[in-house]
Amino acid sequence: MRIRKAVFPVAGLGTRFLPATKAIAKEMLPIVDKPLIQYAVQEAISAGAEELIFITGRSKNSIMDHFDKAYELETELEQRGKEKLLAIVREVLPPGVTCIFIRQAEALGLGHAVLCAWPAVGDEDFSVILADDLIDGKLRPCLAQMQRVYQEYGTSVVAVQKVPKDEISSYGVVEVQPVAPGLGEVRRIVEKPKKEDAPSDLAVVGRYILTPRIFKLLERTPRGAGGEIQLTDAISMMIQEQTVLAYEFEGTRYDCGSKLGYLKANVEYGLKHEEIGGEFTRYMKDMAADLNSLAPKEKKQG
Ligand code: G1P
Repeated sequence: MRIRKAVFPVAGLGTRFLPATKAIAKEMLPIVDKPLIQYAVQEAISAGAEELIFITGRSKNSIMDHFDKAYELETELEQRGKEKLLAIVREVLPPGVTCIFIRQAEALGLGHAVLCAWPAVGDEDFSVILADDLIDGKLRPCLAQMQRVYQEYGTSVVAVQKVPKDEISSYGVVEVQPVAPGLGEVRRIVEKPKKEDAPSDLAVVGRYILTPRIFKLLERTPRGAGGEIQLTDAISMMIQEQTVLAYEFEGTRYDCGSKLGYLKANVEYGLKHEEIGGEFTRYMKDMAADLNSLAPKEKKQG
């Protein structure tokens, strides 16, 4: 039981990063030296995916180019004997992995984007990864952790994380019946509830393993929160028919759809980067010392 197909909805406009995202896809923004979408793709591949299905929109050609073979660049690097760089370029798409690009003509929401993947996914279980949610899974990537749950229970699994009450209305939120530590059966799921209506503090983050039943349900999902066809609403119908598990993954998630989350990810991945990590750590320590020395002065002024 391996999930062979992974869906990447990448049609969003990325307005929170304008003007950086005026001409390039937000998923191509780098964390240190690797675009967000590449982290997502590597996570899917490490969990066994062989077919990557990108649901794209306008201004997303850079994603297609990124996962294409770059003959000229490779020849140039080869001729100049830049073996290490050549390996980095070739690593972007390992042998045996294929890409499919589907254009989402209208931006009708995440549920609609997933529905667009139906012809490529067909009648098998599949995963969905939102590249905005960068997850450092520590011992094991988040999707690989979820795959273990899937292998044990053979049902849909969504990744969840506790979030502060003030942030809950930005997420799909679940109410669960406990099954095992960190694992529960979804009893209710609501997209972007008001703080006071949220059924819990467990928010869905951008990793899903789903059965193909979701497509039939998405077909009849009406527009929901924000006037969009929401994946959450289709999952809400699915729990009436099938078990859906909510899994609290181990690791740290960076909300790279926000400027602050994106900067935090860059700092933390920078600190452990094999090439610049040491120097960057020294720089950050100096900077922290400078900031500390500033703190009392600020106090006095106040
Ligand atoms: C989407 C989903 C939401 C989920 C979130 C995780 O929302 O609709 O249920 O909690 O991703 O990042 P978006 O952030 O695209 O508005």
